[in-house]
Amino acid sequence: MNFPHAAVVGLGFMGRTHIQSLRRLGVQIGGILGSDREKSERFGHQLGISRVYADFNEILADPAIGVVHLCTPNHLHYPLAKSALQAGKHVICEKPLALNTTESLELARLADQHNLVAAVNYNLRFYPLVQEARARIQAGEIGEARLFHGGYLQDWLFLPSDWNWRLEPEQGGELRVVSDIGTHWMDMASWLTGLQITAVMADLSTFLPYRRKPLHAVETFAGKLAADDQAEQTPIHTEDTACILLAFSNGARGALTLSQISAGRKNYFWWEISGSRASLRWDQENPNQLWVGQRDQPNQIVIKDPALMHPEARPFADFPGGHAEGYPDTFVQLFRQVYCAVRDNAIRSAAFPSFADGHRQIALCSAIQQSAREKRWVELTD
Ligand SMILES: NC(=O)c1ccc[n+]([C@@H]2O[C@H](COP(=O)([O-])OP(=O)(O)OC[C@H]3O[C@@H](n4cnc5c(N)ncnc54)[C@H](O)[C@@H]3O)[C@@H](O)[C@H]2O)c1
Repeated sequence: MNFPHAAVVGLGFMGRTHIQSLRRLGVQIGGILGSDREKSERFGHQLGISRVYADFNEILADPAIGVVHLCTPNHLHYPLAKSALQAGKHVICEKPLALNTTESLELARLADQHNLVAAVNYNLRFYPLVQEARARIQAGEIGEARLFHGGYLQDWLFLPSDWNWRLEPEQGGELRVVSDIGTHWMDMASWLTGLQITAVMADLSTFLPYRRKPLHAVETFAGKLAADDQAEQTPIHTEDTACILLAFSNGARGALTLSQISAGRKNYFWWEISGSRASLRWDQENPNQLWVGQRDQPNQIVIKDPALMHPEARPFADFPGGHAEGYPDTFVQLFRQVYCAVRDNAIRSAAFPSFADGHRQIALCSAIQQSAREKRWVELTD
């Protein structure tokens, strides 16, 4: 049986990435929707996609579409995901799932009521060696997790002239680095270890209280190449950096550093976990190596080679050893989970990040915001 057809909404950085990945998987793009009809038609023409929808309702009414991909700015995730599920469409929503816990809880409950895919694109779980790390942790190879630390550092919002919709709370939400990149890290920490983050202590800082907002829209990561033409001085209320202490459900402790203003750090997502038997370390800018730290024998560098990986992790490597896999491949792996689950009617058992996982991240964001405001540890209630 064939895969269901996809509609992609939002045609920026993520929209393009979703389309490329769907095509690699063999999924047909039934149509696209951008914010501007003329631009979307040009975009469709470049990519050989003939159907450009006039609005979201046209997608919902199109019986040819099985899965809707939401690649818009954050504030649109909740209304679009809600109406897509209500119309009986499967949804892959970009992270963060929503702007607050009222929205994300409603979406998680709605997803629970339907036999539909409701996935949040925490794609970084799908690096082959991240899957390998999880398999090793589940097999008890590092023992009991004690310390989980790391960070996610970028520099694309380093200058006061760097601008993006994420800086505007109405579109991005009241938090920026925490919800934009921090939730990727926290999602991975829980998913790798099987442990929940139960309490947080956070310090948030805004080092650039004013930025120059261009009078035209700037696509993600495009600011560095854009001419600094007409712009207006704009106050910024979202954080440039975050330092967060974490407590995990087994008593393990953690520390997370986040920044979008760290010169030279492009997409530096890394973590290290210290267990009672061994340690593991991984870094997204060098994703085909996993460090194993040991006390009584030499440390190891495990390379990405499906032939040498745990059987549970092996299906997530599409290329043999010595053939690097990276960021774009993680989308293909996640989408494969979704489209196979829909095709095979195996949604409940499929291995994709769910709306419940997405809601958990929004609850963490809310606790982090409260902790920073009240300068104290905040426990998560459920
Ligand atoms: N999973 C990841 O690794 C990852 C990476 C980057 C971004 N994201 C997420 O993807 C989403 C999009 O981010 P981006 O970086 O692609 O932003 P972007 O600005 O590059 O693209 C967003 C696009 O949405 C369009 N848009 C705005 N309103 C719309 C509407 N009503 N209908 C249709 N299109 C509309 C904009 O014109 C723009 O082209 C965000 O939620 C972001 O957090 C995820």
